[in-house]
Amino acid sequence: MIIQPRTRGFICLTAHPDGAHQAVKNQIEYVKSEDEIKNGPKKVLVIGASTGFGLSSRIAAAFGSDASTIGVFFEKPASEGKMGTAGWYNSAAFEKEAHAAGLYAKSINGDAFSDEVKKETIELIKKDLGQVDLVVYSLASPRRTHPKTGVAYASVLKPIGQPFTNKTVDFHTGVVSDITINPVENEEDIANTVAVMGGEDWKFWIEDLKAAGVLAEGVKTVAYSYIGPELTFPIYRNGTIGQAKNDLEATVPVLNDLLKDLNGKSYVSVNKALVTQSSSAIPVVPLYISLLYKVMKAKGTHEGTIEQMQRLFADRLYTDNGEVALDEAGRIRVDDWEMADDVQAEVAKLWKETTTENLSEISDIEGYRKEFFNLFGFQFDEIDYEKDANENVQVPSIE
Ligand code: NAI
Ligand code: NA
Repeated sequence: MIIQPRTRGFICLTAHPDGAHQAVKNQIEYVKSEDEIKNGPKKVLVIGASTGFGLSSRIAAAFGSDASTIGVFFEKPASEGKMGTAGWYNSAAFEKEAHAAGLYAKSINGDAFSDEVKKETIELIKKDLGQVDLVVYSLASPRRTHPKTGVAYASVLKPIGQPFTNKTVDFHTGVVSDITINPVENEEDIANTVAVMGGEDWKFWIEDLKAAGVLAEGVKTVAYSYIGPELTFPIYRNGTIGQAKNDLEATVPVLNDLLKDLNGKSYVSVNKALVTQSSSAIPVVPLYISLLYKVMKAKGTHEGTIEQMQRLFADRLYTDNGEVALDEAGRIRVDDWEMADDVQAEVAKLWKETTTENLSEISDIEGYRKEFFNLFGFQFDEIDYEKDANENVQVPSIE
């Protein structure tokens, strides 16, 4: 089958297995080109392991620190004549590459919010690894069914209090326009978003893993957050999703308490704004990312998810002296290069000037677009997209 991109708004309905394999290989090559992560993790559980920061965390752990990895994700497998999702193909490629390198890698495909998947994961850890020494929590989802009550929550991406008007871009067409996003109408929208993207499920995972005795002495767990510039505050950090991030960050001391007797530690890492399936869904943010990429690439400080996760492991979580640098609120910051004053000043200046007419000149909208298609395995020079794709690709440990 010849597979071409088919998009609907910020969603790509198709994915290319060979391109996904190329994307994974490129990330592995990057990690191998860096120094080995000394004192790095050895047995790692990644929840949300198939795309974005979670996939890169898994690759950095496996290929930077020889770690055995178990990945949990929610993807659609390829089946007779039907394509799988990008995350499925990424995971198939990851496992193949890991196995070829002699590394243990198994995956679980299912709803990470459910008790069943937690149980299944614990059984797999017990059977194959005994215990894990790092748990990465990297879920991004628009909905969650609560495992104890069965209530289904849907998150919303809205400001709180007042409507928010700012520029936004349709990254396919390059049209820049003003958008007004109305604020939430009730507290329930906020509570629902917190229920989906806040810290409760992370806590449930750590509680269950601990109760089952599968967390090693000195275990670490990390979840990912975002802050970003003032111009996106109304839609991000001060909006509904920001409330969920506050809740996630407030879970850190709770987990530290829980992990105390294991000498374990929990962290939130504030990461850089990057093109992923999740971030492309947020209004205003893609335009900010296009400008940010332009400025950071010019300065030589641009990073993708794999560079971010490599730096998180090598320079933050697993340092030579064992110390983990935190900000005044107790968070790890790998968004430091994004938030540098000179970067932000330039982005803010460009933001004011941006129009449809000058977009391709003053922003990296092309880089944005390419990375978006790369997420689904498209636009890799190494792949011949006129050739039949190898569509019936399975994740070795699942099929
Ligand atoms: P992503 O969409 O690329 O990855 C989400 C992962 O969660 C995938 O592996 C997916 O399969 C998995 N997933 C979703 N629902 C699931 C479910 N019910 N059960 C099992 N797995 C499920 O997202 P991204 O961007 O990598 O986000 C990960 C974390 O990083 C999120 O907390 C996000 O807020 C945070 N972050 C993202 C930034 C960005 O610019 N993209 C910046 C800073 C933080
Ligand atoms: Na992820």
